[in-house]
Amino acid sequence: MQRKTVLFHNKLVYYNISGSGEAILIIHGFGANAQIWENVLPMLDADYLYIVPELPGSGFSEVVSPVSIHYMAELMQVILFAEQKNACVILGHSMGGYIALQFAEMFPDIVQGIGLIHSHAYADDEAKKISRYKSAEFIERNGSSIFLDEFVPKMFAESTSKDVVNYHRKLIDNTPTEGLAADLQAMATRQDKSNLLSRFQKPVLFMMGAKDTIMPLEFLLKQAPLPKIAQVEILNNSGHMSMIEQPEACAAAINSFIDFCKTKNQ
Ligand code: MLT
Repeated sequence: MQRKTVLFHNKLVYYNISGSGEAILIIHGFGANAQIWENVLPMLDADYLYIVPELPGSGFSEVVSPVSIHYMAELMQVILFAEQKNACVILGHSMGGYIALQFAEMFPDIVQGIGLIHSHAYADDEAKKISRYKSAEFIERNGSSIFLDEFVPKMFAESTSKDVVNYHRKLIDNTPTEGLAADLQAMATRQDKSNLLSRFQKPVLFMMGAKDTIMPLEFLLKQAPLPKIAQVEILNNSGHMSMIEQPEACAAAINSFIDFCKTKNQ
């Protein structure tokens, strides 16, 4: 693995690369960083270049506040171009999926497939927007600890080991409060992308956790008939975090999707 940086609007952004070949961009979700993929990456097909960014305010990347999903999608393109790639399969976990969809709308010719890992194309309803703004205000005033005490356990299946939950809690504890608040506001202002999914001609992966309470299965399944070509993977022992709850199954689903995209793009 190699650690690299780009400067975007005068802010330093870190990303990791491993392997070589066609590009696979893998975007983490809210509060996480590139480390969240560390169990999955060694199990992915060795024939590709994996690009794993750390979004602004996550990992080593500088905070940007305010920030938007659009801004982060542009940043993904800058990173891809820094690696001299003009095509990729783009995979995003949860908030990372919102960025992947925005990216596919802005750069349709680049995208060879979209992977939504515990993610979806719908915008927030009014109640969700209000609760995000309240949470952002709360953590700006009080720090993130009380918010995370409630939020982090909800990301996991009840059957998931407490060690895994604690691992994620430690990881997310390192994310600056300002970055978490900015991301909550960015998610609240994002637009619906279900029309994009309906128009999309390349493969779409929907990876879902049967025990996800943040994005329940029945809600995520609603979008599965939208694209022309879809691969649906339901992970029975995962909540919202299959990359650390069931890394082998998560990696296997990603490998088969990448393979699928390769066949469809030939
Ligand atoms: C995430 O894990 O990125 C968030 O839970 C996404 C969201 O809150 O919509």
